[in-house]
Amino acid sequence: MGHKTTNTGRATFATRLGAVAAAVGSAVGFGNIWRFPYITGQDGGGAFLIIYVLAVLFLGIPLMIAEFSIGRTAHRNVVGAYRKIAPGTPWWTVGALGLAVAMLILGFYVVISGWTLCYTWRALTNDFSATVSAMQMADASLDAAGALTADFGNFVSSPIAPLAWTILAIIINAGILLGGVQKGIERASSVLMPVLGILLLILVGNSLRLNGFADGMRFLFVPDFSKVDGHVLIDAIGQAFFSLSVAMGIMVAYGSYLDDSTKLGKTASQVAIMDTLIAILAGVVIFPACFSFGIAPGQGSGLVFVTLPAVFLQMPGGYIIGVLFFFLITLAGITSCMSIFEVPISFLQEELNMSRKGAVAASCVFALVLGIACSLSLGLWNGFQIAGDCLFDFLDHVTSLYMMPICALLTAIMVGWALKKNFLEHAISNGGKDSAWFVTPLVWILRIFAPVAILVIFLSGIGLI
Ligand code: ALA
Repeated sequence: MGHKTTNTGRATFATRLGAVAAAVGSAVGFGNIWRFPYITGQDGGGAFLIIYVLAVLFLGIPLMIAEFSIGRTAHRNVVGAYRKIAPGTPWWTVGALGLAVAMLILGFYVVISGWTLCYTWRALTNDFSATVSAMQMADASLDAAGALTADFGNFVSSPIAPLAWTILAIIINAGILLGGVQKGIERASSVLMPVLGILLLILVGNSLRLNGFADGMRFLFVPDFSKVDGHVLIDAIGQAFFSLSVAMGIMVAYGSYLDDSTKLGKTASQVAIMDTLIAILAGVVIFPACFSFGIAPGQGSGLVFVTLPAVFLQMPGGYIIGVLFFFLITLAGITSCMSIFEVPISFLQEELNMSRKGAVAASCVFALVLGIACSLSLGLWNGFQIAGDCLFDFLDHVTSLYMMPICALLTAIMVGWALKKNFLEHAISNGGKDSAWFVTPLVWILRIFAPVAILVIFLSGIGLI
């Protein structure tokens, strides 16, 4: 596979499939396997899922097409891209907001990457069953799920172990990122995403044998709209943006690496379909397990780290499946983490003229400092709260509930109203070569529906209406 560049000399993904796989690799990550189940669990299940899917269809996909268009037209980093397509205006600040979102998300994303690395190691060394047995010896009233819950709490709040795993995760990311766009990101993503899908299907097969299967399915798929309020709505759009990697600069950066014949609408739809399927499959694995093992679906951000080891402990072949699955979640996290890193790295390279090495190093040091603070905020520094949250939770909440909706809202307004009408049409049709039949509805979604929906949901989410 040769090294391809655009006529501006910038790297592009080498193959069409590689480009889609890299975008899927960015989208599919902890958002699907860690965040989707825990937010769905907290927000009541089926009704949340319906709103989430609507948010993906009517906000996520249109925004992804808009971001791909911005990135691919400008072939620049996120700040440079907004500046290039709307020169002499303040719209570049929306790009800067996306950059800020990516940097803040990095803080907790590298910590979760560390957790999954550690859990892969623990699965490999059969540590879960040893831990459960030891904890049950000390307290005979504990069941496996109770022991795994206590164990997860002890792990994330301890001062040393999660930090060491976080540092390892950052080193792995740095190594891949130094390989550059094509060699690192594309190659890794093309292979790993299909394998993750297959393993998820095996786990779904296992879910069928659990006695909580019917209850889990009912929780995930039967809506109870009495649980829906403004907070649930804003959670759904925040989760959709987080999971699709939009409103955080990533799809602008990845769009800038797409070659000039990639069909942006088709690519965005494929990414969104894959991403949503993987999230739903994760739900089909997690919720039956919750009801089988007496784990509360709404218990919060530790949900998958308690539920999955409990599944593997009782499942035939659970050892090997557990090792593979944690390994693949770690890899899915890494392909997403790399894409988040790519946002500040491309910014530093292009706007501050740093070398790729320097930009990777600076971004990793930033992630390290923020990651250490996030990890310690779950234990030693828990007393330091911002708006009632520890730093880890604060960064998760402030990005998905406030910053991403605002970034998405402004991007929709910019593309829908401020840019020339033919901007989107030109990008979507690849300069008139391909069909762009959906450009009119898309423009109206970006002009009217997205701004109004995001604004109303945002205001009701923060309790103002
Ligand atoms: N979209 C990425 C994820 O879901 C950030 O993890």
